[in-house]
Amino acid sequence: KAASIGRIMEAAYREHVLVPAFNIAYLPMVKTIFDVLKETCTFALLEVSRPDIMRFGAESFKAVKEEYARWEDPSLARLHQDHVPVIDEEGNLVNWKELIQEALLLGYHSVMIDGSRLPFQENVRVTQEVVSMAHPRGVCVEAELGAVLGHEKGPLPPYEELFASGKGFTSPEDAEKFVKVTGVDWLSIAIGNIHGAISGAAKDQKKVEARLNIEWLKEIARRTQIPLVLHGGSGIRKEYVQEAIRNGITKINVGTEIRQAYEKGLKEGGNIESARSILKDKLFELIEEYYEIQGTALKL
Ligand code: G3H
Ligand code: ZN
Repeated sequence: KAASIGRIMEAAYREHVLVPAFNIAYLPMVKTIFDVLKETCTFALLEVSRPDIMRFGAESFKAVKEEYARWEDPSLARLHQDHVPVIDEEGNLVNWKELIQEALLLGYHSVMIDGSRLPFQENVRVTQEVVSMAHPRGVCVEAELGAVLGHEKGPLPPYEELFASGKGFTSPEDAEKFVKVTGVDWLSIAIGNIHGAISGAAKDQKKVEARLNIEWLKEIARRTQIPLVLHGGSGIRKEYVQEAIRNGITKINVGTEIRQAYEKGLKEGGNIESARSILKDKLFELIEEYYEIQGTALKL
């Protein structure tokens, strides 16, 4: 029987081995990702979020699950439901319970509830509810505390200003409390990382290069003792990624960079095969960089 994703992530956390999580913005990306994982002997998560479905070509949680099932190999990957927001970027309430339920029924191995736009207590309550829905099925839950910006409408203030102010950063004290009372498996934190999906990089501009506050990370890791997740994984400088893995980040979500590679290939070559080929190069590049950074394979 294949190991559960909970066990795999625990082992990765202990060993400081990174589990990359690749966002599926278009269905044909699934096969290419499996091809590259196989060729590089890498374990990863394939994940899909509401923006992938609503703004790009992932179609639905069901469509991604079906495509995943066509190429599935438990020695290489698991399927994760990324970002189910409680409140969306326009401030509207989302039918989060139905979306989580949908992923559970479809057989997703883990889910993410994103209550980061809620006050602390409400985020706790919603996350507790998702944990109580998912755990009896053996499904892991990721939650977010603090706010990884870049998913909201309109332009953001200049990045350096944001970083210096620590706006949206996860409080280590709150993180400790949150993990204790929710029983959540993995926690997405904000330490300077930023999403590229919706803001600047929504078209094909290059995403702003984020920095990370490693001291905050250390303090959060010390207090939480569970796998931490770095969202906005596209375009973070190597040195920061390296320090992040050393200090408690187990999962890095990568969306914009691989989506833009796929879209570039589609535009230039005009077909899915050309899109897949540019995506493949990008995935090799990323995985090679992660190998180099941690000095070992991403294999458990
Ligand atoms: O949940 C998705 C990730 O946070 C993706 O962020 O598009 O900046 O790589 P990114
Ligand atoms: Zn994210």
